[in-house]
Amino acid sequence: MTKQQQYAQYQQLLAGQEMPFAYVDLDKFDTNVSELLKRAGNKKIRIASKSMRCTALMQRVLQADNQYQGIMCFTATEAAWLSRKGFDDLLVAYPTYQVAHITAVAEELQKGKKIYLMVDRVEHLARIQEVAERMNTPIAVCLDLDMSSRYPALHFGVWRSSVQDLATAQAFWRELQKYPLVQLKGVMGYEAQIAGVADQMKGQGPKNAIVRLLKKRSIKEIAKRRAAVVNWIKEQGAVLDFVNGGGTGSLESTREEAAVTEVTVGSGFYNPTLFDAYANFRHEPAAGYAIEVVRQPAPHIYTCLGGGYVASGMVGIDKIPQPYLPDTAALNPNEMAGEVQTPIHYKGTELAIGKPVFMRHSKAGELCERFEQLILLRKQGIEGKVLTYRGEGQCFL
Ligand SMILES: Cc1ncc(COP(=O)(O)O)c(C=O)c1O
Repeated sequence: MTKQQQYAQYQQLLAGQEMPFAYVDLDKFDTNVSELLKRAGNKKIRIASKSMRCTALMQRVLQADNQYQGIMCFTATEAAWLSRKGFDDLLVAYPTYQVAHITAVAEELQKGKKIYLMVDRVEHLARIQEVAERMNTPIAVCLDLDMSSRYPALHFGVWRSSVQDLATAQAFWRELQKYPLVQLKGVMGYEAQIAGVADQMKGQGPKNAIVRLLKKRSIKEIAKRRAAVVNWIKEQGAVLDFVNGGGTGSLESTREEAAVTEVTVGSGFYNPTLFDAYANFRHEPAAGYAIEVVRQPAPHIYTCLGGGYVASGMVGIDKIPQPYLPDTAALNPNEMAGEVQTPIHYKGTELAIGKPVFMRHSKAGELCERFEQLILLRKQGIEGKVLTYRGEGQCFL
């Protein structure tokens, strides 16, 4: 289908919907769900909830295939909420230090649920032990192993864990033995420099080549580090429920590591614009939002109401949402996507006052913080509407 035809189809299917609205094209979404299964090889896949923020769609993925198993949550309060809603096997991917949040998790553990808190500092262990003692409940934790590569003049990766190699992992393990109610059940290492860095960006040939080279070197090095730490921990007698790694952008390399039992995937389901420029894969643009043309200040400029949902991370053009349909619609370089209005440059004949411009967010889950529901589309028509986290009254980060 050409982009022109896609615009005509979406307009017809979504005619009469109150704008702005967010949507998920289920045909494309389901294609992504099955392509991601193939890309993950024989590893289990944990769903990164931050990149979905919609419980109905998370359920849909879990039900699609039993290779999908468990959720990677972004906060402990979210994990406790999901647990109360019936989800299980919840890994909180970032550290929790608030006593109330650890307590909320402990309450779910007491009901027999599986939830893991992330740790990489003694301070985390002490806090968790304190709550575990008060609640008289052992609390399961996952060790976050730093997966960045440090080169002489470059830190290739993100700043997260202070457990950075076998020696620091061994020291951490020895500390852990002082906290009997804190039980190590998993290891996670997120190689952000492989999973989250695009390597086939338009017009950036030399930079792409350098990034790919750095990735190649880094992949070899982190695989060794992960295997060494996991093997050593197992030799100490730890029984791990999982060893987690990767993300949408790194499945081809993470799945090759024998030490890894499961990979994480979130962004690949909606496939926002940041995931358009990887050499190893292409997914379908499944999620987006529509803004309405409300003005036409010049012959080829159509100004829409709202639209400026800029993504988090290092400020840059790549964090701006992009017009998707109609084809060739473009942002104004001085105004971009604005808080209350977004002028669209367009030379074709499709746009007029009252018409929709379909936009794509640069990240996956953040879109759901702007809308209470997602319209679910199929070629045949609207299949239904589902609530986002925001629509369910939840706001975690
Ligand atoms: C710990 C962790 N694992 C995996 C991912 C990958 O998620 P996605 O598939 O949405 O890129 C992320 C993203 O930031 C993460 O922080």
